[in-house]
Amino acid sequence: MTASISETLLAWYDAHARDLPWRLPPQSALPDDPAWPYRVWLSEVMLQQTTVAAVKPYFAKFTSLWPSVEALAAAPEGDIMTAWAGLGYYSRARNLLKCARVVAERGGFPDNEAELRALPGLGDYTAAAIAAIAFGRRAVVVDANVERVVARLFAIDTPLPGARKAIRDAADAITPERRAGDFAQAMMDLGSDLCTAKAPRCLLCPLTDVCAGRQRGEPERLPVKPPKRPVPERRGTAFWITRRQGMEVWLVTRPTTGMLGGMRALPDDGWTARRDGSGTAPIEGAWRSLGAVRHGFTHARLTLEVKALETAAAVPGEGQWWPVSRIADAGLASLFAKAAALALV
Ligand code: ADE
Repeated sequence: MTASISETLLAWYDAHARDLPWRLPPQSALPDDPAWPYRVWLSEVMLQQTTVAAVKPYFAKFTSLWPSVEALAAAPEGDIMTAWAGLGYYSRARNLLKCARVVAERGGFPDNEAELRALPGLGDYTAAAIAAIAFGRRAVVVDANVERVVARLFAIDTPLPGARKAIRDAADAITPERRAGDFAQAMMDLGSDLCTAKAPRCLLCPLTDVCAGRQRGEPERLPVKPPKRPVPERRGTAFWITRRQGMEVWLVTRPTTGMLGGMRALPDDGWTARRDGSGTAPIEGAWRSLGAVRHGFTHARLTLEVKALETAAAVPGEGQWWPVSRIADAGLASLFAKAAALALV
């Protein structure tokens, strides 16, 4: 009898699994320790829309600052936002705290997909991933890597997002009852190491003989992407306001709703993904332009001009004077860290 896709893939995973800080080696028994689902949850939230390489130092920082979900639940939101700064998609950090509070209150993570799905910030993918990896439940775990592997394996050539249902059904059909967490992570590793978006390494792939995409040729064409919508170009201005000969800078905390919500930032002119900023500065003065930085968001690209002013006047609105020598500890979102770097050259 020939081995099934899941058996072949699991055997490959036994030999080739990536060693990652939030993972156990293949075939490990699940630890009876509440820190285990906490670490799986934290890593999966961080890994949404973010690469493994970018996540690693943040995962180390968070688990050392807050080793349990109870510790995280007790942390002030500002501390979490500061620790998250640079990782992007900041609503994840706000939901992280909301979720930690719910979980701490109920005495731990639920151990099944349906209840996990009801927690703040957990979508279909994350709930399935935690159910499988943390609790060994059979769950169909489909992220972008898995989507690519499955679309190729079964030569699903309907364009995304229309192909999602067929891809999910096909993933369901090959998901085993046992070793659900290993299987999910094996699919992810295959997608990230071999079945890559460009130039897949089919000669090294354990599934090459059963891959319909490879048999048809040009597996790199799959999954078929929808035509790209042009991303709008936006303009805005950020203001670097200093006092005491440039020793302190005025920082604000952005409103919790909207882009970069809840993050510490430079004051700006109210740009959003939908419209340009007004260009209006918070106070009058002889502003100097320091140049501009570019930043890509999901729904827009922004050119942010940075203007500077040294002043003795009070700045209206809420904010705080921050020592410029400690700007790296302010927890500025990457966009504003780039803007600050312009002021500090
Ligand atoms: N991406 C999302 N979750 C992951 C995991 N558990 N291992 C590797 N890559 C991932």
